Amino acid sequence: MKQIAVLASGRGSNFQAILDALSEGRIDGRVVALFTDNKEAYAIDRANAAGIPVIILNYKDYSSKKEYETELLAAMKAVRVDLFVCAGYMRIIGTEIAREFAGKMINIHPALLPAFAGLHGQRQAVEYGVKIAGCTVHFVDEGLDSGPIILQKSVEVLDDDDEDSLSERILEQEHIAFPEAVSLFCADRLEVSGRHVKILPEANNQ
Ligand code: GAR
Repeated sequence: MKQIAVLASGRGSNFQAILDALSEGRIDGRVVALFTDNKEAYAIDRANAAGIPVIILNYKDYSSKKEYETELLAAMKAVRVDLFVCAGYMRIIGTEIAREFAGKMINIHPALLPAFAGLHGQRQAVEYGVKIAGCTVHFVDEGLDSGPIILQKSVEVLDDDDEDSLSERILEQEHIAFPEAVSLFCADRLEVSGRHVKILPEANNQ
């Protein structure tokens, strides 16, 4: 069974979707730690409710990004997990961490990458005037939201959508896509070759 650690900065609804999928047996894994850069994140309450240890590295308490990242890297190495899941983790992953955990770290982004990387993917989609938006689960690499794509789910953008209404509908899809991707990883069903991620068929256990 795969050991998982989650990184989250805020509300943690994607973290919750993964916890729910685990408790319903849709993922063969176990979350052993929550990392957060925000001591006020609601994700902490969710972890407490599920009995998951929380590691708080409050970003504002560090004098530099480098100092924060050095401590985060050490703490991440110490948990010895198979997979790191960035569930609404709102900081750019530093090069050293991305390198250390290449192929073992995934992120959800609220846009159909490579469009609208970075902050406020949903707002960028509304402002650009696209007709289809969505979410992407991808491996983390050294770039900004640029790693190999595992899954994407789309939603239609309606004429009267604003950032909030679109975000809400994308979030519903995130809560489907993210547990699905974690489940595939935990079942060793993701084969990465360059930028391409192939989803392998379910193993026949008979
Ligand atoms: C989600 O929409 C997630 O895709 C987004 O933040 C939200 C977190 O919600 N992540 C990013 O924008 C990362 N660049 P949650 O805390 O309820 O899961």
